[in-house]
Amino acid sequence: MQYLTALVDLNATLNFAQQIAKSIVPDFVVAVSGDLGAGKTTLVRGVLYDLGVTGNVKSPTYTIVEPYSVGNVDIYHFDLYRFNAGEEWLDSGFDEYFTKNSICFIEWAEKAYQYLPSIDWWLKIIAVSDAEAAKDQRSVQITSLSDKGTECLSQLIKHAD
Ligand SMILES: Nc1ncnc2c1ncn2[C@@H]1O[C@H](COP(=O)(O)OP(=O)(O)O)[C@@H](O)[C@H]1O
Ligand SMILES: [Mg+2]
Repeated sequence: MQYLTALVDLNATLNFAQQIAKSIVPDFVVAVSGDLGAGKTTLVRGVLYDLGVTGNVKSPTYTIVEPYSVGNVDIYHFDLYRFNAGEEWLDSGFDEYFTKNSICFIEWAEKAYQYLPSIDWWLKIIAVSDAEAAKDQRSVQITSLSDKGTECLSQLIKHAD
């Protein structure tokens, strides 16, 4: 299943983040792709706050992963931008972070996609235009890649309508 929608500005992105937070469940993996500056971290940060994370959510570009927890749910925010090769995933020990109680967001998942645990949603953010007047516009596409991903995407579409 696939869902495509417009995010007219930053506020629309933050509203969409709220819809995502309402739709996903533990034991879930979201791959997030899009160019530098597309808004991946901004969207994930919004989702984390809506899931109940408090405090600072910084980009994991340098640390590769930032861990959070809300109640008994572990939330991991990855950014694989600095990976030179997908094989780096194999040495990382990160597979252990994917549990029944975790939700994982992976920016630049394409850098290691062949080694990642199974992905429920592939989310792509696309900048719409170079024009100054439209510089805050994005579109977002979510593709579900598992049965659970499809169930949660149906929920999101229900909330979004
Ligand atoms: N509609 C939008 N959605 C997301 N970010 C937006 C939007 N409009 C403007 N921005 C800005 O674009 C930048 C995106 O940066 P960031 O989220 O770090 O991108 P990425 O993680 O994809 O490299 C932020 O400064 C954000 O405020
Ligand atoms: Mg980022």
